[in-house]
Amino acid sequence: MALPWWQTGVVYQIYPRSFQDSDDDGVGDLAGIIGRLDHLSETLGVDALWLSPFYPSPMADFGYDVADYCDVDPLFGTLEDFDGMVEAAHARGLRVIVDWVPNHSSDQHPWFVESRSSRDNPRRDWYVWRDARSDGSPPNNWLSAFGGPAWTWDEATGQFYLHSFLAQQPDLNWRNPQVEAAMLDTLRFWLDRGVDGFRIDVAHFVGKDPEMRDNPPRTSTEGLFKPMAGYDSQVHLYDKGHPFAHDVFRKVRAVLDGYGGDRFAVGEIHESDWAKWAGYYGAASDELHMPFNFSLLYVPWDAAEIRRRVEALEAALPAGAWPNYVLGNHDEPRIATRFGPERARLAAMLLLTLRGTPTLYYGDEIAMPEVAIPRDLQNDPWALRVPDVPTRDGCRTPMQWAPGDGAGFTTAGVEPWLPFTPDLDTHNVAAQLSDQRSLLQLYRQLLRLRRSEPALHLGGFAARDDAPDGVLAYHRRAGDADFLVVLNLTDDGREATIPSAGAIELSTHLDHAGAAGARVALRPHEGMILRLTPGVGAGPAVP
Ligand code: GLC
Repeated sequence: MALPWWQTGVVYQIYPRSFQDSDDDGVGDLAGIIGRLDHLSETLGVDALWLSPFYPSPMADFGYDVADYCDVDPLFGTLEDFDGMVEAAHARGLRVIVDWVPNHSSDQHPWFVESRSSRDNPRRDWYVWRDARSDGSPPNNWLSAFGGPAWTWDEATGQFYLHSFLAQQPDLNWRNPQVEAAMLDTLRFWLDRGVDGFRIDVAHFVGKDPEMRDNPPRTSTEGLFKPMAGYDSQVHLYDKGHPFAHDVFRKVRAVLDGYGGDRFAVGEIHESDWAKWAGYYGAASDELHMPFNFSLLYVPWDAAEIRRRVEALEAALPAGAWPNYVLGNHDEPRIATRFGPERARLAAMLLLTLRGTPTLYYGDEIAMPEVAIPRDLQNDPWALRVPDVPTRDGCRTPMQWAPGDGAGFTTAGVEPWLPFTPDLDTHNVAAQLSDQRSLLQLYRQLLRLRRSEPALHLGGFAARDDAPDGVLAYHRRAGDADFLVVLNLTDDGREATIPSAGAIELSTHLDHAGAAGARVALRPHEGMILRLTPGVGAGPAVP
């Protein structure tokens, strides 16, 4: 049976504010995205786009505070523009995934406006309201991921409401069946408009302890994805990840399965316990198609450690579950800065040759660096509230299509909502298209090879034990095809043994291809994909 598109394909994330401005306000929009779809389908050759939120929003958290789940913010266009975008994407064979933010709405959403209007409003229980403790303090010790307590006092009605993020992002009460019904209807709204799937924002947060017990203190940093200042003082045992979330995802899945065409759900789940993480596929494969796998985002640049994490993922997967990898998104520092510019090429080869669905983040294909945004130009509410947290603005800067004023993102003379990178003249699509050895050309070739070779988009994965120190080597195989990927993660040259006759298909340096001998020399930071002819030539047995 043919595998569905979300298994064989590659997803490309677009941050709508930053992809293409079509109306000269310095902010990207849906019409702009339509005009740039060729970049996805022709230049790159990806299979799906994921759009971060474009819904009406006061933008306290840049769209992750949704004031209407079933419309488009005028900043980005109209519902007609959205329909036009889906149509244009589908005409190019691109699937469309939209962000769905079920844990919280905006405080400006009419549901919350009603909910806070009085204690006996019929929508009071749509959000999480609690009395103060006898000393006037919040009902428990839960913290907001964006700093401070997770509870805000509402003077008018004399109760606290819960917000796992900003006070402008009140948490919906998923235990209320009316909330569940209304939110599942928002999925149907977009499915009816033809979307192919959803990226579910902080999915595990919908599961909260019904008794709302205090979180215990944290005594070690083990298992932390990244430092989050005061939020790390607790183990987040009760405020997220409760098994109740599984009930919600089974219902989400049932809605998707009720539509034809392989509709898809991927969840943003930060969970360092692999068994719990794997649980989100569902005990009967009846929940998320994939929980995002962020385990390589902050991996130390070390062959043994990367292998360990890849094999841990493979071992954790339930039967029939499909893996995936993420190296960048709108919440994390840019790859080119986090791993360093020489490593960006190896990171691309790694991401596009591991077994599982890769998700690319716009701009990483041209190595856009993290932009240092001066504090007075910063927008990210998290970093503005919590001084120890780096701003997420630096990875959200506008796409650089061409050199010069406006960068092809907006008209010359228009101020973009965030500044471009200082090295705009080299980090842009046009410059990299005319340079045959650019990172963009590497992405194109990797994507082309991955698409044309079943071994690379659906084949098995097997790491080799005989790789030299600092080199990660693995096979991808399907049928008779056998590819060997060798990645030199060190700053020095390395020699890798080739187990059978083979040819270099692709080097990260894009400067050589052709027959390979029994050993192949890898330059510092060089990776190669070799096509092997199994059983031909000398070398150790293939594992
Ligand atoms: C997710 C989003 C992030 C947002 C947060 C709250 O982590 O990726 O951008 O700020 O949820 O919705």
